[in-house]
Parts: sequence; structure tokens; C-alpha cells
Amino acid sequence: MSKESGLIAPHGGQLINRIASEAEKKEFLAQAETLPRVTLDARAQSDLEMIAIGGFSPLKGFMEQSDYDAVVGEMHLSNGLPWAIPVTLPVSEEIAEPLKEGNWVRLDDADGRFIGVLELTQKFHYNKAHEAINVYKTDEEKHPGVKVVYDQGAVNLAGPVWLLERDPHPLFPIYQIDPAASRAAFAERGWKTVVGFQTRNPIHRAHEYIQKCALETVDGLFLHPLVGATKSDDIPADVRMRCYEIMMENYFPKERVILAINPSAMRYAGPREAIFHALIRKNYGCTHFIVGRDHAGVGDYYGTYEAQEMFDNFDPAALGITPMKFEHAFYCKKTEQMATSKTSPSGPEDRVHLSGTKVREMLRNGELPPPQFSRPLVAAELARAMHK
Ligand code: ADX
Repeated sequence: MSKESGLIAPHGGQLINRIASEAEKKEFLAQAETLPRVTLDARAQSDLEMIAIGGFSPLKGFMEQSDYDAVVGEMHLSNGLPWAIPVTLPVSEEIAEPLKEGNWVRLDDADGRFIGVLELTQKFHYNKAHEAINVYKTDEEKHPGVKVVYDQGAVNLAGPVWLLERDPHPLFPIYQIDPAASRAAFAERGWKTVVGFQTRNPIHRAHEYIQKCALETVDGLFLHPLVGATKSDDIPADVRMRCYEIMMENYFPKERVILAINPSAMRYAGPREAIFHALIRKNYGCTHFIVGRDHAGVGDYYGTYEAQEMFDNFDPAALGITPMKFEHAFYCKKTEQMATSKTSPSGPEDRVHLSGTKVREMLRNGELPPPQFSRPLVAAELARAMHK
């Protein structure tokens, strides 16, 4: 617990803030035209943002080799803290070559806008196959996370960063609730226990069921959809956010639920990403984190409950945030309610479950997913988005 607020302490004990002060910003802007430039892709831009707002505390920048090796090899930072996903800034040999360790590098977004600064402390080569196998458990390029690793540059640039300015999110400004703000919001509501929910998909009734089951035992629910880069066939973030707004309007008690965006990019690293997702929510002030079936999975690379089992590899005190594990949920026709195999007496024939792929196929064919799967207002919103 952090003493001042009574809330759970951020990972590593202190919420990192790497947003440039006015004085720092002035100093950086004065050198804007002379600093060497690196252009960030969508993921690196998200990572810069997450580091700056403290979502990746205790990271202050892109990982140096000692952290990178410890994370890829053993799921810990070099100081021993749990951490499961490398946070790196890979660039090509040509881009890395002229950059000098010890100097500042200007970080631009894809439109050439100056958005951050890296104090380059180290450049290092890394082994892509080793990273893929360790982090994603496969080196198959058809895995979307592995593909990113194979497509990216061969040299990691490392060192502390500053974000020049915290701009409002272009699409979801009212849901941009950064870790300091979510912590303040939890404290203001007097919530001692808060469960965080990660998602990259439109909300369906199994999501709603596990969110509400979790909320039954804690003070507040932090709905935290990921809006950073996802693979191209995932439903776009604006559509997903509209579905969540519909749920907030109609199906959730507003005084117990906060909806906010998670600016991170998706990795699809299943079990390891579940740990990463939990630590991010700890930084936002959550005490608990929902881990359901095949969390952050893709295809059939990971076992249904492998993400849940991953938590057993860590000392609960070192993680600090408690996983709330849920079995595969579905609508049970026999008992006419949402359930899991723990609570339903029915066999497979009485269970309504649809895969994301199946739902997308139905929507493309002009069919709506059934009310047992999706709230009708949400289904209508998905259909509308599909046929725009
Ligand atoms: S994820 O990639 O962000 O994990 P998704 O948005 O589908 O994907 O899942 C969000 C959370 O809900 C994850 O913890 C996932 O395990 C859980 N979940 C999704 N569908 C179900 C289901 N039918 N039963 C139980 N848990 C589920």
C-alpha cells in the first residue's frame, strides 16, 4: 500500500512521470532542429506514452540490454522485479549507426511531429528468434506478435525518455484517465479494492458476466479497453468504445464502474502478456485483475488457462496485484443465465458460445449475434459499424 493514499503502490514503489517540465520542454524545443531524429511507429509511440504517464512504472525509458536479457530470459527486470514483455525501441542498422551513446535523440511521430526525447545510453543487437521463442512461445511469422519482431530493426536504442507534451487523445479525450488520475478517482470514491479489465474486443455477455462476478467482491470495476495498435482484423477501437459507452449507459452502475482507455499496443503474447497487463493495471491503481480464458491469446498458440497458470511462477507479493481467474463463460440455456462449467449443470448442446471470428462472419452476412451472446444494443452498433 502507498502510505499517502491507502491505494496499492505502483510497481517498483513510485509512479513514474516522464512528461517534460516546462523548462525541459523549452530546452528540447531549442534543439529541435539540431538533434538526430528517429521516427516512431504506432507501437513505439504508445510505449513512449505509457512510460511517460507511469503506466509502465518502474520503466523510465526503453530497456537497456541488462533489463532486456533478464525480461526475455527470466521474466524479471535486472533489479529483480517481475516484468514479462520487453519494451524496446528497435531501429535499422542505418538509423542506429550515426547515433552516439550519451546524446539526445529527437523522437518524432509518423507525421514528423516532435513528440519526445530519448537520452541514448545504449545501442545493442539482439536475437529475434530467441525473443520470439521466449516471449511468444513460437517463431512462426504468422503469429502477429512474432511478425512485428521479425519486421522490426536489428538494433535496440535504449535509455530514459521524455514525452514533450501530454496531448488529449484525438478520439477519446474524456476516457484518457492516466494512472495518477485513475488513482485519484479511486481514492475520491473511497474504493479500497478495484478490479481492472483488459480487452481488445467488443464487449459480449461473457465479458460482462466475469466483470460483474468480479465486481461482486471488490469496491470498483476499472474497464480498461486497449486502444493502441491491434492486428488488422480486430474490431477498431472507436467501435469497441461505442459498445462500452452503450454498456455504461444501460447495463452498468455508473457509481461503481470507471471506463478509461489503455493506450498500449497489443502484443498477443498470451501468458506473458497477462502478467504485463496486470502490472499496467497495478500502476493505474487496481488491486485485482481479471484473467479469463486464453487471455491475450491468438490462434491456438496458448492453452486456454495458460495465462492464469503463468501467475503461479511469481511471488504474489512481488507482483502486488491479485489475479481473478475465470473459466470459459457462456450462456446456459438450461438455467437461462450466464455461467461457466463450474456453475452450469448443462452439456455442450445447452451452451451458447460464439468465437470472435464467427461473430464477424455473422455481421458480414447481415445477421446479428443472438441476445444470449451480445446485448442487442451492442449487436446493433456492431452491425452499423460493419456496414458503414
Ligand atoms: S484480450 O486479448 O484482451 O485478452 P478479449 O478482449 O477477448 O481479449 O478478452 C478480455 C478478457 O476477457 C480476457 O481476460 C479474456 O481471458 C476474457 N474472456 C474473453 N472471453 C471470455 C469467455 N467467454 N469466458 C471467460 N473469459 C473470457
